[in-house]
Amino acid sequence: MKIRDDVGITFDDVLLLPRRSSLRSRREADTSTYFTRNIKINIPIISAPMDTVTEHSMAITIARLGGIGVIHRFNTIEQQVNEVKKVKRAENIVIEEPYRVSTNATVQDVKKIMEEKGVSGLLVVDTYDRLKGIVTARDILFQPTDRKVVEIMTPRDKMIVATKDITMEEAKKLLWENRIEKLPIIGYDDKVLGLITASDIVKRMRYPDAARDSKGRLLVAAAVGIRGDYRERAKKLYEAEVDALVIDVAHGHMDRVIEVIKELKKDFGDDLDVISGNIATSEGALDLIKAGSDAVRVGIGPGSVCTTRVVAGAGVPQITAIIDSYKVAKEYEIPVIADGGIRSSGDIVKALSAGASTVMIGRLLAGTDESPGQVVLRNGKRYKIYRGMASFYARLAREAREKGDVEIAEEIEEYSYTAEGVEAYVEYTGSAEEIIKRLVAGLKAGMSYLGARNIDEMREKAVFIKITPSALKESYPHDVNIW
Ligand code: XMP
Repeated sequence: MKIRDDVGITFDDVLLLPRRSSLRSRREADTSTYFTRNIKINIPIISAPMDTVTEHSMAITIARLGGIGVIHRFNTIEQQVNEVKKVKRAENIVIEEPYRVSTNATVQDVKKIMEEKGVSGLLVVDTYDRLKGIVTARDILFQPTDRKVVEIMTPRDKMIVATKDITMEEAKKLLWENRIEKLPIIGYDDKVLGLITASDIVKRMRYPDAARDSKGRLLVAAAVGIRGDYRERAKKLYEAEVDALVIDVAHGHMDRVIEVIKELKKDFGDDLDVISGNIATSEGALDLIKAGSDAVRVGIGPGSVCTTRVVAGAGVPQITAIIDSYKVAKEYEIPVIADGGIRSSGDIVKALSAGASTVMIGRLLAGTDESPGQVVLRNGKRYKIYRGMASFYARLAREAREKGDVEIAEEIEEYSYTAEGVEAYVEYTGSAEEIIKRLVAGLKAGMSYLGARNIDEMREKAVFIKITPSALKESYPHDVNIW
């Protein structure tokens, strides 16, 4: 047995010293950062891969604001891939593979695709993929389900179309002049090559800081495990053009995780960044980075619904975990994701100052419109359910057994006896956009107090001061009655 000489510290144990600032306005603070070795984003906020936090709706909102969401893996491969596709299709310059129906389709077929894919218009094509018309949600309204789509669509000869070389300005002009919302791109013999939509253009203008890929689509990541179908899952996610994979394991400093990093890096090379974790030490960071990890996820037990430290007695207070991991990560220029325990923008400022490039958030986003799940009423107040993913294992074990995945079921069962997470209610907080904007405003305020123009400068300028319990008490509103 050994005992470390230092004391582990977390968010409430420290404050940052205010420094001389040359910023004239908080607007000058640049919040862009690296999510992984190769992926740059515009705000340092990631939504956690939890089934009560991140599906397509959260991922779309957060990417529009400049961050990135990680789609959880507690679903089938098909469901997860679908979530990724919804994000990738949410905004495009040109949708390369627009959804289409054949000329034989009925209103019912159209309805089904529109509902499943969340789109309001479909191109109608013949067997050679040649454009024959377009059908929109308005066209099928009040129509019998067995009616043929060709009878109600806008036929090709009445449609406005464009060719591949059209510029964005020309597209806007055509859409406006003809008061239409969809502009198909066609090639030789009317073959469908893509689709430009007015709503994509509007969204692009509304969210100039969105995190986008080279084709103008929103960025999205997805979680995978380390057993069972994880490799197949990773392959399907890659084919759906996910931007990064997160190897999502409670204890990431494990031989098996190292093997999986190597496997995935071998499978996808530099085409796809792989993030791994969770870890909380410099040794953990070193092993995962050496295996090829493109970012490390740091946090053992700081999360609001985590009970790991109580159940297993293991963990590292989060500021110390970030500082230790960053010591190694900076040598290799690998970003640190500070995962768990963020309660306010002040915590984000502290996590980034300690060495993180981004923070991952669960609880603060769980009560929003964009998180999965219904709003529930309790004693006249509105709530949403938020649960630790480890608490969810019992149900998963049953499902795995039912599907015949014996190896996975046994492993999950083992966890379910020592659940490392709790189920909770969090207050319903409305739109995630509002919350994220408030967090970013607070972060910019913090940067201004540190005199930092960007996140790299924050780390250079940060000086932490340890505080006492009475100083902490002083930090919160006190000696007044709060309305
Ligand atoms: P916050 O504090 O934002 O933390 O709610 C989100 C992070 O918590 C982790 N997480 C868990 N940790 N048992 C744990 O020990 C669990 O059941 C559990 N579920 C989620 C996860 O890292 C997430 O990003």
